[in-house]
Amino acid sequence: EQAGKGGYDHFMLKEINEQPTSLAQAVEGRIDPENGRITLEDLGPGTFAGIETVQLVACGTSYHAALYGSIALNRAGIRTTAVLANEYSISAPPVDDGTLVIAVTQSGETADTLSALRQAKLEGARTLTVTNVVGSTAARVATDALFIRAGPEIGVAATKTFSSQAIMLVLLARRIAADTQSDPPENGEALLAELAGMPDRTEDVLATSDAERIARRYHDSRSYFFIGRGLGFPVALEGALKFKEITYEHAEGFASGELKHGPLALVTPETPVFAVFTGEEDEKTLKNASEAQTRGAPVVAVCPAGHEALEIADGHLEIPETNSTLAGLFANVQLQLVSYHAASLLDRPIDKPRNLAKSVTVE
Ligand code: G6P
Repeated sequence: EQAGKGGYDHFMLKEINEQPTSLAQAVEGRIDPENGRITLEDLGPGTFAGIETVQLVACGTSYHAALYGSIALNRAGIRTTAVLANEYSISAPPVDDGTLVIAVTQSGETADTLSALRQAKLEGARTLTVTNVVGSTAARVATDALFIRAGPEIGVAATKTFSSQAIMLVLLARRIAADTQSDPPENGEALLAELAGMPDRTEDVLATSDAERIARRYHDSRSYFFIGRGLGFPVALEGALKFKEITYEHAEGFASGELKHGPLALVTPETPVFAVFTGEEDEKTLKNASEAQTRGAPVVAVCPAGHEALEIADGHLEIPETNSTLAGLFANVQLQLVSYHAASLLDRPIDKPRNLAKSVTVE
């Protein structure tokens, strides 16, 4: 087992550090350098013709990637909802043959997700899975499969597969738009260049992260809040999930604007707030973070250098200046590292948290 960790103390840290490679593999060969079109192996052009709505079904971390993807799909002009797979049987929006149901699942074996996928198929939806495991049940049940090619993930808490799923869904949004719209959004040279530069910039984030120092400063707090808006919201949810999974401390993620609608009652000097800034309505998120700070909470800003949030922030986790579609994924890497270091300082069994399983095969 030690050998498999490649010199790292834990699989989780190894897998966090593998993201420059796993992200490159997710994108590799899927963007035509000639025209910026998204090519998805055997899902040739026109595969998604006739799709009117998309439903993403998933659980846990994959659900957060699905939420990320649903925002990207909606922004590409495709009507999309993300539904928790375990709620699908009683809360699913209606489907027909113009509905594409996408099961987002790292393992391809999560019972809740498979059950939603099977139900959707039975009701006449078209189906696709975004998964890491070739030959998994999801890949066999869904009509089509897209593999994120992240390589095996051993740590129970998902890390590299989240970012790869999110990127895959960003690519898929562009591709479904191209197949279904007469005037799809431009592929945007800028976004494509940013995607190409992502592995190197992730490498920089990993090499220069201040997450260990931040974790050291705050790891004996009472509760931890994570806030973000737009694509920063699923990142905040994921930041909190990661934190609670491996530190056993209470953590919650909120849409930044929701803080004032209830959670603010919990805020004290004992509740650090990690605020994710993705370059979308950052001034509003800053106002929300300031409201928490006024009540005594330390604020850690996850934002680029020189950002206005740094005028008030008590701590800083730096992300590169980038397109808002990708900013959240850099922020996510920083939050993964904070969780890891906090759990390490608290001496938790990081790779195998109590009561959790890598893949839950019962409903
Ligand atoms: C379990 C794991 C989570 C994971 C979830 C969904 O609960 O502990 O880390 O996010 O299953 O797994 P999947 O394989 O469907 O992505």
